Amino acid sequence: MNAHTISVLAGDGIGPEVMPVAMEVLDAATRDRGIRLEWREQPWGSDYFRSHGRMMPVDAIETMAATDAVFLGAVGHPEVSDVETLWGMLIPIRREFDQYVNLRPVRSFSGVRSSLAGDPEIDTVIVRENVEGEYSSVGGRSYPGTPFEAAHQQAIFTRHGIERIARYAVEVARGRSGRLVSATKSNGIIHTMPFWDEVVAEVVEDAGGIELESVLIDALAARAVRDPRSLDVVVASNLFGDILSDLVAGAVGSIGIAPSANLNPEGRHPSMFEPVHGSAPDIAGRGIANPIGQIWAGAMMLRHLGHADRAEAVERAFTAVIERGEVTPDLGGSLTTAEVGAAVVEELSDDADV
Ligand code: NAI
Ligand code: MG
Repeated sequence: MNAHTISVLAGDGIGPEVMPVAMEVLDAATRDRGIRLEWREQPWGSDYFRSHGRMMPVDAIETMAATDAVFLGAVGHPEVSDVETLWGMLIPIRREFDQYVNLRPVRSFSGVRSSLAGDPEIDTVIVRENVEGEYSSVGGRSYPGTPFEAAHQQAIFTRHGIERIARYAVEVARGRSGRLVSATKSNGIIHTMPFWDEVVAEVVEDAGGIELESVLIDALAARAVRDPRSLDVVVASNLFGDILSDLVAGAVGSIGIAPSANLNPEGRHPSMFEPVHGSAPDIAGRGIANPIGQIWAGAMMLRHLGHADRAEAVERAFTAVIERGEVTPDLGGSLTTAEVGAAVVEELSDDADV
């Protein structure tokens, strides 16, 4: 028996609605296949914060370190500052576990109309640097409360950090078209971005066999809207990758579909799998959240745990369900979160018969 322990952090808002549905799908995909998923559910998040004054207990990182992966729903609550929630839970996990790759695949499904004119077919992977860059904690406020008040935010780009994300992106590109686009802004950000360009170019040159194109992020945003099919694999810094992946996911039709993996590729620490969307307070509690982003993130987790065939079975199953139009309201359907989950489970059991 192949057993994996998984830390489950359903979190806030729609997180606890989509999480059980995804767990059921993953159980259905692995049951009777010699794989056992041992779920370790943790009550951490904004409710925990209101009773304990922190998002997770002090030893949370140690607790999760003893498991094979982290499966996260969403964090964020309208009554708790995002500084508390994101920096109290999501960001410490990414950093403590050195999850330096944020992998975000985005693709179209037939039956889901793109929000772009012409309904282009999109199939792009964004490889986002996940632990340094613009999202650094270095900085502060000076002269608060005076007319001279100022905020300083120091972006940090290291050779080590750029090299390893570029190397990872090169391998993703090699497994696809061999084309890699690097997002930059070396015309406006004069220290970090020329350094990024230099190091990415060196890594690509050393690796060989990859065609590299450096594109300024503003032009790249326009291109993602005008000609998304020209983007196969994109490597980007923390901020640029964050924005670009929401942009491309939005272009496909709904952010509720998009998955993401926070990877520590060397496996020294657990990796974390989560949908791209947040806690969606505007629809929370109504049972209508799209569970596909969470389910797809679960498929990425199965692949990471060494079960590529099971990941593909899950991907086939939810693709069939989406293409039949069995979808939640964000995609124009009328199914509930649970009904979509049941349809995917049903599809998986048919798949197993083949
Ligand atoms: P959001 O992704 O939660 O929602 C944006 C819009 O998309 C909303 O209209 C929402 O209803 C819709 N949406 C999102 N997921 C959906 C789903 N599965 N099915 C159907 N519709 C869906 O982003 P927003 O509103 O900017 O942020 C809400 C909270 O979530 C904030 O506190 C924010 O900081 C946090 N957040 C957390 C993230 C995480 O946990 N990784 C990522 C993004 C935001
Ligand atoms: Mg984001």
